[in-house]
Amino acid sequence: MDSLKIVGGAKLSGKVSVSAAKNSSLPILISTLLSSQKIQLQGLPALRDMSTTFKLLTNLGATIEDIGNGDFNISCATVNSTEATYDLVKTMRASILVLGPLLARYGEARVSLPGGCAIGDRPVDIHLSNLEKLGAKIVLEKGYVHATCEKLKGAELELSFPSVGATENLMMAATLAQGVTLIKNAAQEPEIIDLADFLNKMGAKVEGAGTSVIKISGVESLGPAKHRPIGDRIEAITYIICGLATNSSIEITDFCPEYIEDVINILKTMGANLEVMKNGVKTKPSSLKPFQAVTAPYPGFPTDAQAQLMALMALIPGRSTIVENIFENRFMHVPELNRLGANIKVDGKIATIDGVQSFSGAEVMCTDLRASAALVIGALVAVGETKISRVYHLDRGYEKIEEKLQALGASITRVS
Ligand code: EPZ
Repeated sequence: MDSLKIVGGAKLSGKVSVSAAKNSSLPILISTLLSSQKIQLQGLPALRDMSTTFKLLTNLGATIEDIGNGDFNISCATVNSTEATYDLVKTMRASILVLGPLLARYGEARVSLPGGCAIGDRPVDIHLSNLEKLGAKIVLEKGYVHATCEKLKGAELELSFPSVGATENLMMAATLAQGVTLIKNAAQEPEIIDLADFLNKMGAKVEGAGTSVIKISGVESLGPAKHRPIGDRIEAITYIICGLATNSSIEITDFCPEYIEDVINILKTMGANLEVMKNGVKTKPSSLKPFQAVTAPYPGFPTDAQAQLMALMALIPGRSTIVENIFENRFMHVPELNRLGANIKVDGKIATIDGVQSFSGAEVMCTDLRASAALVIGALVAVGETKISRVYHLDRGYEKIEEKLQALGASITRVS
């Protein structure tokens, strides 16, 4: 298992380009199951979750050709199975997203229940109950979801929570259903818009993505398409916070700043000196103040940036708090940050962060993807060397993180 060794204290400088969004690339890649025509996806990020998804699709019979530079030709004309097995699904819960496309295209899907993960038990009840409203017959047996249908029929759906994954599963399923589907209380994340853009390129009729009501008019079949997913807004936020935590001037590019407007406003309220450009953000040395943050569905403060913000708050004099409203167990980074010298207490969904003067390097352990990013941020400012173990968590969602940070001047090396 790889580790990262970071010697803190370096000032960062220069430019870092974010990769394509993991949380766009995954559903978009899975949605190619809806078409039997040739698809080309460009600039996909080299991440563990991407290779897991490629494996998932090839296990179903899809043909995937790597043509270099993150570009892939995909054909699902050769799909000959509708079963996603536990060994793959347990490593990546987003695998549940094959349910909608397989049902829509083949009338059947057998997908292992994803099971929980470090940040929560991650139920899929909203996915399943609404697929039933589209006409699917769903049986849970031996840890698998077994779904069948004659032909999905459009319906008016109202999500009990604006679940990102459920919105994506239902949007994909509805593209080939008979008639019109409305998804009310839909998730509004930018990655939903990106998926809808790709589905429409394949010939689907999806309207309203990015708002709370999405309308999908079913079509007979989907065709060929080419697509390059949007830049990763969470990776962008992570590097912005790296710049602020190290009091550096760096430029983070190749993403849409309007997609992180709420985060930029919060950071500016905290005193961050940020310059917003057309396709990026520049950080400058800033003197920061404490803040009370609350995570919420988009366009609110993203839960995926909570751990990173906490690492920053831990070094700001005064008391900050973070309320985590989305996942029930997303404070696994707290004990690890406290090992670096932070002073953070958790009570239910509220973390209280009393800023400290400095961190000291220590051995810490990754517990989940975004918690790992928080530890990297902490290590960049800790005095001395920090060894971060189990970085396979980090590799799920950050492409070439040590190269990108080395290029900015950080002292970071990977130890296998
Ligand atoms: C997506 O997960 C993202 N993953 C997550 O990013 C992100 O944290 C999350 O959306 C929220 O923004 C991908 O896009 C691959 P949800 P998802 O369904 O779809 C509950 C990262 O770090 N819920 O919006 O699983 C659920 O338990 C990852 O990149 C139900 O109760 O999130 C959670 O508490 C982590 N029943 C809340 O809703 C359901 O059927 C939000 O879940 C579905 C969800």
